[in-house]
Amino acid sequence: MSISAQPQLSAFALSVQQGLSAPRKTLSPRYFYDDIGSALFEAITLLPEYGLTRADQRLLRVHAAEIAVRAGRTATVAELGSGSGKKTRYVLEAVCRGAGPVCYRPIDVSRAALFSCEKELQGICEIRPVCGDWVSGLAEIAQTRDPNQKLLLLFLGSSIGNLDRHEIPKFLRDLRSHLLPGDLFLLGADLIKNVDRMLLAYDDPTGVTAAFNLNLLGRINRELDADFDLKSFRHEARWNERERCVEMHLVCCRRQRVYIAALDAAIHFEAGETIWTESSHKFTRTELEEYAQCSGFQALTAWVDQEWPFAETLWRAR
Ligand code: AVJ
Repeated sequence: MSISAQPQLSAFALSVQQGLSAPRKTLSPRYFYDDIGSALFEAITLLPEYGLTRADQRLLRVHAAEIAVRAGRTATVAELGSGSGKKTRYVLEAVCRGAGPVCYRPIDVSRAALFSCEKELQGICEIRPVCGDWVSGLAEIAQTRDPNQKLLLLFLGSSIGNLDRHEIPKFLRDLRSHLLPGDLFLLGADLIKNVDRMLLAYDDPTGVTAAFNLNLLGRINRELDADFDLKSFRHEARWNERERCVEMHLVCCRRQRVYIAALDAAIHFEAGETIWTESSHKFTRTELEEYAQCSGFQALTAWVDQEWPFAETLWRAR
């Protein structure tokens, strides 16, 4: 082995290296959620300006029994991203009340997230977490399930909004390819609403979302031994009308260079240059129905929250 060989870089390091060496700098939103980021996200869900999570929770609580009736004899409830487990509880309890034994299979890349979700939901039914990314986690579940029993797949909280619009149909078809006809898919998606209201949700006056965004640089400092001066970057939320998404950026306030020791890389920033950290796409109900149609599902019902336009849609695999 050559002595100059670079030590193995983590997936995080590789992603940062790639994102910050591109002409338009980006960082992936999947790395927001270290311990600090997860705590800040939990705080975001409590903000009066961010109605998304509460809308999702209300819909699941109010319609849990109806979802369970539709689910009928579901033996497996799989979930993409384990979340905190709080919203899943309503659905899981309702489904378990109806059917025979149910197995809950949360899929997440973070072992810590799986662990806390398991703690939150223990006692309701058997829980068998899957550590991995969404599609391969679902593939693993598909291999071991009983094909004679139904599966209910959950994808809540508008996490789908983080995908680029053009990636969504392929992603949904990938999910569909691991399901059997008759399986159900419950998808929560945030709807387009007043632009000021959407922007305020991603730029709250308390600054929690700003802290959530800036923590990404803090995480690079901590884990990749970098010297980002967090005070010289500021949070910005923008509405992108063409893509119908809220973009989050970190704007660099002065010309500077940042050194990332783990990558042995110096990154140059111009004043006003931004790092694009997240896109949260917003949808219309028609659009969601079209997604169902083009990816091998039949849209059964959609429940919409009145206070905060958000849709819980239930699809059946065709
Ligand atoms: C968890 C991806 C749905 O996009 O609204 C909240 C993350 N970012 N505030 C979203 C988030 C800024 C959230 N999702």
